[in-house]
Amino acid sequence: MPDSRTGVRWVRSPAGSPRRLLFGADYNPEQWERKVWREDVRLMRQAGVNIVSVGIFSWSQLQPAADEWTFGWLDDVLDLLHANGISADLATATASPPPWLTTRHPEILPLNERGEVLSPGGRQHWRPTSPIFREYALELVRKLAQRYAAHPAVVAWHINNEIGCHNAWDHSSDATVAFREWLRERYTDLDGLNRAWGTAFWSQRYSSFDEILTPRLAAAHPNPSQQLDFKRFSSDALKGHLQAERAILRQWSPEIPVTTNFMVMDGITAMNYADWADDVDFVSNDHYVTFKPTARDELSFSANLTSGLAGGSPWFLMEHSTSAVNWQPVNLAKPEGALAADALAHVAHGADAVCYFQWRQSRAGAEKFHSAMLPHAGEDSDIFRDVSRLGETLAALHEVAGSRRKQAPVAILFDWESWWASEQDSHHTSRFRYRDEVLDWYRAVLDGGHRADVIPVSSSLEGYRVVIAPAVHVLPRALAHRLTHFAETGGHLLVAFNTGLVDENDHAWLGGYPGPLRNVLGIGVQEIRPLLEGQRTSLSYGSHAGLWTEKLDIVDPSVEVLARYTDGELSGRPAITRRRTAGGTASYVSADLDDAARARLIEHVAADVPNELPRDLRGKVELTVRSDGVNETAFLINRTSAPVDITAYGTPHTIVGADGNSGPGLLPSPGVAVVSVTSHPSDDVASVDRRPVMTA
Ligand code: GLA
Repeated sequence: MPDSRTGVRWVRSPAGSPRRLLFGADYNPEQWERKVWREDVRLMRQAGVNIVSVGIFSWSQLQPAADEWTFGWLDDVLDLLHANGISADLATATASPPPWLTTRHPEILPLNERGEVLSPGGRQHWRPTSPIFREYALELVRKLAQRYAAHPAVVAWHINNEIGCHNAWDHSSDATVAFREWLRERYTDLDGLNRAWGTAFWSQRYSSFDEILTPRLAAAHPNPSQQLDFKRFSSDALKGHLQAERAILRQWSPEIPVTTNFMVMDGITAMNYADWADDVDFVSNDHYVTFKPTARDELSFSANLTSGLAGGSPWFLMEHSTSAVNWQPVNLAKPEGALAADALAHVAHGADAVCYFQWRQSRAGAEKFHSAMLPHAGEDSDIFRDVSRLGETLAALHEVAGSRRKQAPVAILFDWESWWASEQDSHHTSRFRYRDEVLDWYRAVLDGGHRADVIPVSSSLEGYRVVIAPAVHVLPRALAHRLTHFAETGGHLLVAFNTGLVDENDHAWLGGYPGPLRNVLGIGVQEIRPLLEGQRTSLSYGSHAGLWTEKLDIVDPSVEVLARYTDGELSGRPAITRRRTAGGTASYVSADLDDAARARLIEHVAADVPNELPRDLRGKVELTVRSDGVNETAFLINRTSAPVDITAYGTPHTIVGADGNSGPGLLPSPGVAVVSVTSHPSDDVASVDRRPVMTA
C-alpha cells in the first residue's frame, strides 16, 4: 500500500515541545478523592507519562441531572495535568448515559435480536440511531467543546469510547426506521431491493419498505443478503454517531484533532474500520491480548492492520493492558517482559502513542481486577517499576516519533464484508473463522522471514510484489479486476480458498468459483468439501489440510499444478495451482493448509522477493521497519519462546523484554529489539549500523 492517507492531523504538541512518543492511560480521577489526584500526577511524572485520556465515563459527574452541569472538578483536573506537563486527550463523555437519562427516556435503550430491551446498569446502553440520545449527547459535546477548546492541556478529542463495543446490533424501532431509510438510499426502489435480497426465495418479496425489519431471531435462517446489509447499516449507523459528535467538535474547536478508539483485535467484528478511518484526524486503536498460542503474532497482525487503516502514518495505541484483563474466562497475568515487549511491538508497527487502560486500578466496579499502570499494590510493585522503565525507553526512542511504516513487499488483504458474510449461518461449515484464516497467512509470511502489510481490501496495490487474497468471500467484480490487473502487470497474486463465492449482494457467482477471478487463475471450483473436526487430507506437497477442501478444475491448459490431493475422494485432483501471467503469477490454493505447507507456498510465490532477514533469523523474529524518509529504524520481535541470537542482523540500541533470559546479542522472549539502519539490510547484513546497546 503506498502510504496514501491524506489529511492526518496528529495530537497537538504542547507549545514549544518537539514531537515525541506519547505514553499514558485512561485517567478516571472521578473515581477517587481529590487528595489522590496529587499523588497521581506525582507518579505520572515519575513514570514518564505525558498524556492521559480524561472523562471517558464521566457523563453523570458532568451532568448530574438534566439541567445541572458540574464542570468545576474537570477544570481542576485539566489545570493540574497542565501544571505538571501532562496533556489531555479529552473524551466527549458520551459512552455511558447516566441513570437520570435512561429513566427519563427508556426509549434510548437498545433491543437485542430477540426484541429484549438491554437494561442500563452497565455501559453503552444507547441506540446508535436514537434521535433522543443523539440530542442529549450532542448537547454534552457542545458544552465540553465550548468550555475546553482553548484549554492548554487539551491536545486531542476522544469521541465517545469504543463505539459499537456493546451496542452494535440494535433491533429497536429507531433502528428499524433508520434501516429502511438506509435501504431506500442504497436501492432507490423496492425492485432493486427485492433483486438484491433474492426475495423470490422462500416467498420473501416485499411490497413496501414499511414491511422490512431488521433481521431479528426468525423461525428459520433469516435472509443472508438482509443480514449482510444489516451489518453494513449498523456499521454506518455507529459511524453516523461519530460524525455527528465530530461535527460539533469541528465547529467549536477546529484546532484540536479528533479521534475515537477503534478495536482492531480478536473477536470484534461489527465496525468496518476501513470505512471509518477517514472520519478521524488520526487513527487510534485498543488492543487486548487473548491467550492463544498465536497471541504474539495476533498482536502484531492487529497492529499491522491498524497501520494499514492509518495509511502507514503513525497511529495512537489508546488502550492495552499492563497485565491481566477482567473479561476473559481466565484472566492470566502477563509473563515477565511482556509489558514492554507488547508496547514496543505496537511501536514497531507505527504506534506513536503507548497508552493503557488505565492509570490507577479501580477500587470498585466491574473492572477492579483489571490491571493498570498503578496497581492495587501501589508504586512499590513490579508493574509500576516496569511501567516506569518503559517510560524511560519510550523517551529515549524519540527519534522514531513521526516516522512512517516502510512499505513491505507483501500485502495481505483484509475485508470486513467478507468477514461478515463468510461467518453467517447456512454455509459450508460453521468451523470457518475469517480472521484466523487471514492471520494464518500473516504467520506464514513471517515464517518465511518476509515483511507483510495487512491492508484493507480497498487499498492501492501499487508497489507490492506479492498480494495475498485469503477468503475474499465477497468478491465484487471491480475488486476482481484490480487483482487481475495486479497479476497481469508483473505482480504475484496468491488467492486462497473461500474466495469469490458471492458478489456484493451475497449472490453466488455462477460457472465456478471464484467467479470473475477464474480467468486470471485459470481454474474453476466446482464444489466446496469441508472437513469435520479432526479430519485431515494429505497433499502431494508433503503436508496436510484440514477444515476446507475444494473440487477444482483447470480451465487454462497453461496452469501448473503445484500440489494435488493424495487421498480421499479428491485424490489426484489439483489442490494448489499457478498460472504465469505477463511478468507475474496467479496462484490458487484450494485447501486450508498446515503451517509448513503455507510457508512453503509463500516461498514459491515470493521466490523473487529479496529476503531482508539473515537466514538463521527467518521465522524466529518478525522484522518491521519505520522510516522518516532519511533514516530507517528496524524492529525485531521475538516470535519464539526462547532467546534468539540476533547479532547476524545488527546491534540494537534498545532491547526490551524478559530480563531473565537475555544476554549479549540475545533477543529475549518475549522481547523486541530496535536497530538503527543506515541502508537497507539484505542477505548481506554488513550494511547494518552497529550501535552500542543503550538500554537493556
Ligand atoms: C475497553 C474499554 C475500557 C475498559 C477496557 C478493559 O477497552 O474501552 O473502558 O473497559 O476495555 O479491558
